[in-house]
Amino acid sequence: MKPPIYVTQPYLPPLEEFIPYLQEIWDKKMLTNGGPFHQQLEKALCDYLGVKHLALFSNGTLGLITALQALRVTGEVITTPYSFVATAHSLLWNGIKPMFVDVDPNTLNLDPARIEAAITPHTTAIMPVHCYGHPCDVQAIQKIADNYNLKVIYDAAHAFGVQDEGGSVLRHGDLSVLSFHATKVFNTFEGGAIICPDAKTKLRIDQLKNFGYVDEVTVVAPGINGKMSEINAAFGMLQLKHVDQALARRKSIDATYREALKNVRGIRCLQDAGEQVANYSYFPILVESDYPLSRDALYQKLKDSNIYARRYFYPLISDFPMYRGMPSAHRENLPVASAAAQKVLCLPIYPALNPPDWQRVIDIVQGA
Ligand SMILES: Cc1ncc(COP(=O)(O)O)c(C=O)c1O
Repeated sequence: MKPPIYVTQPYLPPLEEFIPYLQEIWDKKMLTNGGPFHQQLEKALCDYLGVKHLALFSNGTLGLITALQALRVTGEVITTPYSFVATAHSLLWNGIKPMFVDVDPNTLNLDPARIEAAITPHTTAIMPVHCYGHPCDVQAIQKIADNYNLKVIYDAAHAFGVQDEGGSVLRHGDLSVLSFHATKVFNTFEGGAIICPDAKTKLRIDQLKNFGYVDEVTVVAPGINGKMSEINAAFGMLQLKHVDQALARRKSIDATYREALKNVRGIRCLQDAGEQVANYSYFPILVESDYPLSRDALYQKLKDSNIYARRYFYPLISDFPMYRGMPSAHRENLPVASAAAQKVLCLPIYPALNPPDWQRVIDIVQGA
């Protein structure tokens, strides 16, 4: 049996490059609470991503939960069922009811044409996801938000480094939330960030992620502990040095898959959503009915060859027990997302994936 190939492999720079960063932490003895690496990484990420204000978090989920708190979102929030479960869980953790709306068949992002019908007097916000790093229809979403006076919080967990014609996609909406989880394009082992439009909002978010502390004796909100530690922030500084190279590797693997699979009957490679700079964070294919195998049979065939593709996003969030009783979670309300969840398979893509590895994947998909 050939060695396993997983859907992703975390990017790790050479270990010896990290030692000086650890030495600095040991010397300064600042382990957390907005220490020097935390401050450096916030600044460096603002520069790299082309955004003005950013608050680091210990993970993306706490970022989402805190973003909702920061904007005092309540009631109902319109969101997508076609995402990782943390998107909707962040709503439940705030006592907010998710209202699932179907996705666009081309991008698999929240379909703006279906949002208005889901708005009720209790709706206060929209939480779309830039799924696979492909930007949502941000203009259409903003127009609806403006008309109905709704907040927009983007779950941008997949969208590190993605740009549209105006710059970073992270500038859209009221807030955007990144994840730096091990599986992401840019990882800090665990981590995340909220992109904020102004210094005042960042200050409030910084307070919320530190128990609500304003100074030694003043607590202004029931905040949480969402701070990124110095070790994660230091690792982020090192990762930033390597990220362009890692993205270039992903780009070439994406191009190789697209070329190899373009004439395979029944396999549709998901296209970009018009982004100017993509991040190639995932490689989703849709296994259509004219392919000789079902999606699950192809998934199993790859598995039998020690290749672990993943069915992101199956099951839909709306099919999990804590959501499926909600009227908006019914499959008849979500035909496009339901169909995509039955067809999608994410093929392995990561910087260390070598030509013999990707060829193993391609041979199986082509030869089924
Ligand atoms: C779309 C989406 N939202 C939220 C998260 C949660 O991020 P984290 O794992 O950093 O908490 C993830 C990934 O893990 C994700 O893929």
